Amino acid sequence: MKQTSILFVCLGNICRSPMAEGVFLRILERQNATKFFNIDSAGLLAFHRGELPDSRMRYHAGKRGYELIHRSRPFGRDDFDRFDMIIGMDEQNIDGLKQKAETLEEVAKIHRMTDFCIKVQATHVPDPYYGGDQGFENVIDLLEDACEGLYVAIKNED
Ligand code: 4NP
Repeated sequence: MKQTSILFVCLGNICRSPMAEGVFLRILERQNATKFFNIDSAGLLAFHRGELPDSRMRYHAGKRGYELIHRSRPFGRDDFDRFDMIIGMDEQNIDGLKQKAETLEEVAKIHRMTDFCIKVQATHVPDPYYGGDQGFENVIDLLEDACEGLYVAIKNED
């Protein structure tokens, strides 16, 4: 398998994208493929810089055995050089990333998380920040499906 670097992006980098990172890392561990990947996450807002994921996200993640230890950081222009794939969670994230892109090559690195879903039909991973428990569970359900599809898509490129 070729080396691939992936950056998951959401708004605050305290709920969806660190969760995506945790889900994808567990798939890699199970597939014995960690060495082929560089995985990180970032937010379009710098507001939560340095913070651990939201306690509600960590609680729901923990119920499924995920431990989220990422610290929030803002997306930077240099991330276009550092990553092969930059994956946004919703339309707002995709728009924000496209606004920061300066070349067609950079635009081509931007993907939508739900485009990799296999079983679940969804257009975006909804922001759970102002909602309740079900929103956080839904985020994990969507990400488990989408990350599985993402892994298969990359593996099939070889
Ligand atoms: P995330 O959720 O983008 O999934 O990390 C949010 C976290 C914080 C805020 C919005 C969304 N916020 O407005 O502070």
